Amino acid sequence: MAAYAIGADPEAPLNALVVGDIEPPGAPDGWVPVQVKAAALNHHDIWSLRGVGLSRDRLPMILGCDAAGVTDDGREVIVHAVINAPDFVGFDATYDPKRSLLSERYPGTFATQVRVPPANLVVKPPELSFAEAACLPTAWLTAYRMLFSQSGARPGDTVLIQGAGGGVATALITLGRQAGMRVWVTSRDEARGALAVSLGAHQAFPAGARLPERVDAVMESVGAATWSHSINVLKPGGTLVICGATSGDNPPKAELTKIFFKPLRVIGSVMGTREELISLVRMLVATGVRPYIDRSLPLADAAAGFAAMITGDHFGKIIFKP
Ligand SMILES: NC(=O)c1ccc[n+]([C@@H]2O[C@H](COP(=O)([O-])OP(=O)(O)OC[C@H]3O[C@@H](n4cnc5c(N)ncnc54)[C@H](OP(=O)(O)O)[C@@H]3O)[C@@H](O)[C@H]2O)c1
Repeated sequence: MAAYAIGADPEAPLNALVVGDIEPPGAPDGWVPVQVKAAALNHHDIWSLRGVGLSRDRLPMILGCDAAGVTDDGREVIVHAVINAPDFVGFDATYDPKRSLLSERYPGTFATQVRVPPANLVVKPPELSFAEAACLPTAWLTAYRMLFSQSGARPGDTVLIQGAGGGVATALITLGRQAGMRVWVTSRDEARGALAVSLGAHQAFPAGARLPERVDAVMESVGAATWSHSINVLKPGGTLVICGATSGDNPPKAELTKIFFKPLRVIGSVMGTREELISLVRMLVATGVRPYIDRSLPLADAAAGFAAMITGDHFGKIIFKP
């Protein structure tokens, strides 16, 4: 049983999804099997069904970047989704120009079993459930790196998170609050803003709203719809960290003048390293904070989870259990 892409449909991505049996794919020598106990849905999986980042010659492709499970020798593990090229020698896995994420070149985690390089396994501590652990490798790791490695924001700084209910956004809210930052969020929806406050945000604002004061850093994953607002709300010298462009990557204004005149730092961020994933796991164990899980579905019902994310009808992470 697996959830896999058989094509690409930019307008109706569910048309490209199949949930059912598929011949187990091969894997490079030395990769280890992990029996998947829980996997988490990311917007990446929606992009794949729309044909972004997944070329047709790689179809059919089992989707899913994130998993927690058990190895053949009984170890409980979290799967780091960044697959480096065998000849990569740098220190930071995200700087590998030939890197891929699980489900881009090699089969993903929405299956009973996934195979990964041994170095991509991280110990799952008993304090985290498989479902909680499965939330970490993409959305939560991305949020951790954005906040703690890329933004330069310190405890006491004000951080604006664009969007409230997504996987990355809910992780940013939880981690930022735990780290002593003043956390502000925007949302298109008042009820989702209120949920963000219950999760730890100090204040929620309607998308595009004028803020009481300018902020030290903005966490951007929405893209075109919020780009100008993100630039405008930053203090001089402030930092914008961008990891995604859910609403499109062609904003009406690039805001080049404001970026150099204020002046601002604009920093791209993608996933995170194995070391950052280990630090994130330790932070959750030490603090007791946990990912907010919207719903947990049998893998057989994965299409319902995809549908919820496509319409934006979710708050937090969606889990599939094979
Ligand atoms: N660079 C990386 O390594 C990396 C890693 C993870 C994700 N990403 C990218 O980051 C983005 C978010 O990923 P996710 O998994 O968190 O997705 P998600 O769960 O579907 O969340 C989407 C978010 O976008 C917000 N949003 C606000 N305005 C929007 C608009 N006009 N259209 C659509 N969404 C809007 C939503 O907030 P409200 O509904 O509350 O307004 C919600 O917080 C995706 O584009 C994904 O590809 C990148």
